[in-house]
Amino acid sequence: MTDLDIFVKDCKSALKSDDPSAAVAGLVRTAIADPDALDSAFKERITGKSLRDRIVFSDDELTVVQIATVPGLQSPVHNHNMWAVIGVYEGEEYNAFFEEKNGELAQTGEKLLKTGDVAVLAPETIHAINNPIEQKSNAIHVYGGNLVSREGRSMWNPRTKEQEDYEIGQLSEYTKELSGIA
Ligand SMILES: [Fe+2]
Repeated sequence: MTDLDIFVKDCKSALKSDDPSAAVAGLVRTAIADPDALDSAFKERITGKSLRDRIVFSDDELTVVQIATVPGLQSPVHNHNMWAVIGVYEGEEYNAFFEEKNGELAQTGEKLLKTGDVAVLAPETIHAINNPIEQKSNAIHVYGGNLVSREGRSMWNPRTKEQEDYEIGQLSEYTKELSGIA
């Protein structure tokens, strides 16, 4: 059984290293090496289906969250304003990367993360994720700050394409809209 309290403690120690996101990436790689154990540990801690319910630890310098996506799930474009480490332990997570110029978004790249893959995203990264296959996906996401209250975060309204202040509840609404989930 993966012990999430120990995982969080190890991440907190990693924050003190010279390269915190790389150190956390190493911890995530180890955690996803035993997907069943990680999944059981998450199931004991997750309190519901919403993004907020899936946060197993959060303070001003660290957030650990389980991200489950159903086939076809699509997030709106958003940034984090802090580094992020993504580790996929079941299925696939497609990442599209963007750049914002003169108020317009342009896609600059993409990365398909498969089971066992770990990605480190820089603080300035703007991305959207989706589940591209007919199978659920499960991932652990670790952020170098507070996912809910980090200042300076944005999301892009999928209807108007306007940049807005990030708000976790509204992000979930946009996700439902884009994914066709009522
Ligand atoms: Fe994200």
